[in-house]
Amino acid sequence: MCGIVGILGRGPVADQIVDSLKRLEYRGYDSAGVATLEGAHIDRRRAEGKLKNLEAKLGKSPLAGHIGIGHTRWATHGKPTEANAHPHAAEGVAVVHNGIIENFRELRIELEKGGAKFVSETDTEIVAHLVSSYLQKGASPIDAVKQSLPRLKGAFALAFLFKDHDNLMIGARKGSPLAVGYGDGEMYLGSDAIALAPFTDDISYLEDGDWVVLTRKGCEIHDESGNIVKRDVLKSGASAFMVDKANYRHFMAKEIHEQPEVVGHTLARYVDMASERVALPMKLPFDFKDVQRISITACGTASYAGFIAKYWFERFARVPVEIDVASEFRYREAPVRKGDLAIFISQSGETADTLAALRYAKQQGMHTLAVVNVTTSTIARESETVMPTLAGPEIGVASTKAFTCQLMALATLALAAGKARGELSDADEAKLVQALVKVPRLMADALTHEAAIEKLARDIAKSKDVLYLGRGTSYPLALEGALKLKEISYIHAEGYAAGELKHGPIALIDETIPVVVIAPYDRVFDKTVSNMQEVAARGGNIILMTDAKGAEEATVDSMVTIVMPDMDSAFTPLVYAIPVQLLAYHTAVVMGTDVDQPRNLAKSVTVE
Ligand code: AGP
Repeated sequence: MCGIVGILGRGPVADQIVDSLKRLEYRGYDSAGVATLEGAHIDRRRAEGKLKNLEAKLGKSPLAGHIGIGHTRWATHGKPTEANAHPHAAEGVAVVHNGIIENFRELRIELEKGGAKFVSETDTEIVAHLVSSYLQKGASPIDAVKQSLPRLKGAFALAFLFKDHDNLMIGARKGSPLAVGYGDGEMYLGSDAIALAPFTDDISYLEDGDWVVLTRKGCEIHDESGNIVKRDVLKSGASAFMVDKANYRHFMAKEIHEQPEVVGHTLARYVDMASERVALPMKLPFDFKDVQRISITACGTASYAGFIAKYWFERFARVPVEIDVASEFRYREAPVRKGDLAIFISQSGETADTLAALRYAKQQGMHTLAVVNVTTSTIARESETVMPTLAGPEIGVASTKAFTCQLMALATLALAAGKARGELSDADEAKLVQALVKVPRLMADALTHEAAIEKLARDIAKSKDVLYLGRGTSYPLALEGALKLKEISYIHAEGYAAGELKHGPIALIDETIPVVVIAPYDRVFDKTVSNMQEVAARGGNIILMTDAKGAEEATVDSMVTIVMPDMDSAFTPLVYAIPVQLLAYHTAVVMGTDVDQPRNLAKSVTVE
């Protein structure tokens, strides 16, 4: 994941920036760079590969500026070359960036028409040229950034350095994290408190949509509408912990909020955004054309990610998929076909049942592919092919960001399968990749419903039982919603396919039962509305998660409707996971449970 550092210092800052970037190495990267203001102009050093390559360049050709920005890049648009490494620059400005600029293609065409010359394949360079275009029209740096930000679509964090301005830096946050650090006559910007730990403990975390103007004396933070706002200054304590909670009360809350960023990084690992193609970085030791059946095996939340992926593989690649929980698969002596594909999904990569299932599949001569978060784990080591999820360390026992990163990795694999099997055309692939590229931004939009969900959680916390309903890919998400709620709030919850309700669970419905209905406006929406009517007729309290069209069309009174952004119906679980997770989280907070370490549960289940 990309890391951002900015320093307004009292002496040369390049070495400090590199030290700080070293603390961000844990996020993963494949190139790095620094820019400082040398006299009146901006100078840069960038290098492919690890920070030692950048240090070698700085050793030969030092930078002396007292103000600078630095970056570790995890390649998204374009290869990890020096030309694509950040900072990117255009006349008068340099920028570092974390995240995805969705509308980079349109902006690039527009800027090229205006005479901009691009020298990289990145989406970031567009930002430099856009700001520069306003500077060239006479705008001040602050106005140039202010005019540019609303034109950028996506989930991102940015830091800007300006020619001729030795006492000015601007940062912006929309979907990806950014923190301000307060020093003694110095100021800092960083992706997290860990990056800033060598310099200061006093940190403000920017909120979504914020942008900040820094000088050595302090900073002025603006919200998305341009109002000057105050953000709390906190003592970070990050020097003591490599993984901290930022300003969140629990790791789970932090991990829910990290999703636009880490899901974006997982996406970037498996697609080429510039060409809108799936581009798996690993060579598959089998041809999807020869696979007659896929078996997916996992436990808990990871198994629900697999269940959602079943719908994707069957729809995009027309290949039948069997989904099993690992504790059953390992003992049921499933007849499998040699040469078929077995997929294993695990955050920890150490889950005993999943590992045993993997070993069984290998013995049967299946190809094995593991979607794992911990790449040094046993499951990763023992699988023929590994697809890492780039969620970063997940500390909360309740899985959140690992789940959505698993979904993102599996979505790209399903598209790769569809392409290889001739079921998806180039145009289908481009359309679906475009839909995936929008997901991080839509997740950030979904997070804006937190206050309403927090309020709702106070009612849910009074309930003894909660039902979750969904159809299609929303059905496994309903199962995940119920699991999330019960594991951290200890309230009994069940997930059902909405159409199954009338075959039994409807007997439970009365006015004491909240029923969470996950129903984006898709081809099964009307059917789900009929099931909601059955619930309403029996006095059940409906909490509807849908989009604007769904909210308009739903003919049933719901207790609450949470309106999600409009999106491609194929990938709704990635975005609807957010309200589902937030509802469980805030209910648990109201219940006063140990959210990050709920009773009886372990993060990594290494026993049967
Ligand atoms: C989810 O919130 C869980 N605590 C649990 O179901 C978990 O997903 C399961 O134990 C699988 O773990 P893994 O992904 O590390 O294999």
